[in-house]
Amino acid sequence: MSPAAGEFVTVAKVGDIAPNGVKVVRLNDVLVAVFHLDDGYYAIEDVCTHDGGPVAEGCLENGVIECPRHGAQFDVRTGRVVRFPATSPVPTYAVRVTGDDIQVECP
Ligand code: FES
Repeated sequence: MSPAAGEFVTVAKVGDIAPNGVKVVRLNDVLVAVFHLDDGYYAIEDVCTHDGGPVAEGCLENGVIECPRHGAQFDVRTGRVVRFPATSPVPTYAVRVTGDDIQVECP
């Protein structure tokens, strides 16, 4: 049974995602990239709004991820576009840590 939208689901344990690392999970048929930044965990949809590229496979620097296809950049904390050619933000999902569990709000 699929979790309801808005429900928090455990996607990893604390320690599973290295600092500045990422883990991609599928939640309700949506690919979600969960990033470990210096101030916590953040989740965005792993689909570039420019042309569907796998954003999380790109370079992450200072909380900004660069799509490997054509170089669009997104702020991982907010989803906003930092650099063209993307013009629309990527969806973000809330992340919380409960005990040892990293949990993401389901799309
Ligand atoms: S698909 Fe991501 S920049 Fe084009």
